[in-house]
Amino acid sequence: MSHDAETPHLDFAGTTPYEDYVQADVLTHLQHPLSDDPGEMVFLVTTQVMELWFTVIVHEWETAARALASDDIPTAVAALKRSVRELEALNASWKPLGQLTPAQFNSYRSALGEGSGFQSAMYRRMEFLLAEKSASMLVPHRGAPRVHAELEKALHEPSLYDETLRLLARRGHAVPESVTERDVSQRYEPSPEVEAVWAEIYSGDESDELARLGEALTDVGELVWRWRNDHLVATRRAMGSKAGTGGSAGVAWLEKRAVKNVFPELWTARSHV
Ligand code: HEM
Repeated sequence: MSHDAETPHLDFAGTTPYEDYVQADVLTHLQHPLSDDPGEMVFLVTTQVMELWFTVIVHEWETAARALASDDIPTAVAALKRSVRELEALNASWKPLGQLTPAQFNSYRSALGEGSGFQSAMYRRMEFLLAEKSASMLVPHRGAPRVHAELEKALHEPSLYDETLRLLARRGHAVPESVTERDVSQRYEPSPEVEAVWAEIYSGDESDELARLGEALTDVGELVWRWRNDHLVATRRAMGSKAGTGGSAGVAWLEKRAVKNVFPELWTARSHV
């Protein structure tokens, strides 16, 4: 049979090529609310959507880190710029949950038990790439071998920021060996020498590729900070100062996490330009 040029194909021997690629049938049957509350579905799906964005962003930052390790700044900046658009989309997905009232959240909160975003392994992969390493974040995942193995590998790999600073050192900037040779499984601690390096880069030609790399990382840092603050405000609206389902003090604990600067010297160096 010849096909009418203007209508899509309808006949497929098996599942559609769309299904084979997207696995929409799998994806749209992964929603299992724990309560009868009609408002729980959007809480669950928003969380799943955010996990998918975390996954893409981890992919971009791993691409960027690998490119930096081989001195390919254009590929790294392209991946970082894609991640900036993705972070904007991630942050926009707070919209459906941003105005939850305590009564609405209470309708399904107890059904969540001890479940908490604190237990998101993909979020930890993001943090590890930002050099916010912590071996204790592996502990919750001891019962999930694949997740645990992926996190453990990520813990011991140089972060996006480590690869950036190593590249700056290779380009002749005075990044100390204590930074380039540091134990990358530990949380990155800011260094005055690195701050001076960024101040020098920012005092020079703004179209220089290192300055542009610094700005792409700053965009990333800003949007991660915005995600944390949007999460904090949504939490404050939904539960005030109650304790979290994950066992933390809730908002007070999140406030401490949200004040931290991602890529610290990229922010502090600005005072010296
Ligand atoms: C309005 C709904 C939400 C509330 C009230 C809320 C509340 C909380 C609280 C209280 C914590 C602290 C840990 C604990 O004791 O549980 C936390 C952590 C966390 N939540 Fe949420 N959350 C909400 C939505 C989400 C969504 C949609 C995500 C997306 C995945 C998410 C991801 C996280 C992550 C990654 C952490 C760990 C943060 C860190 O370690 O710094 N949360 N959340």
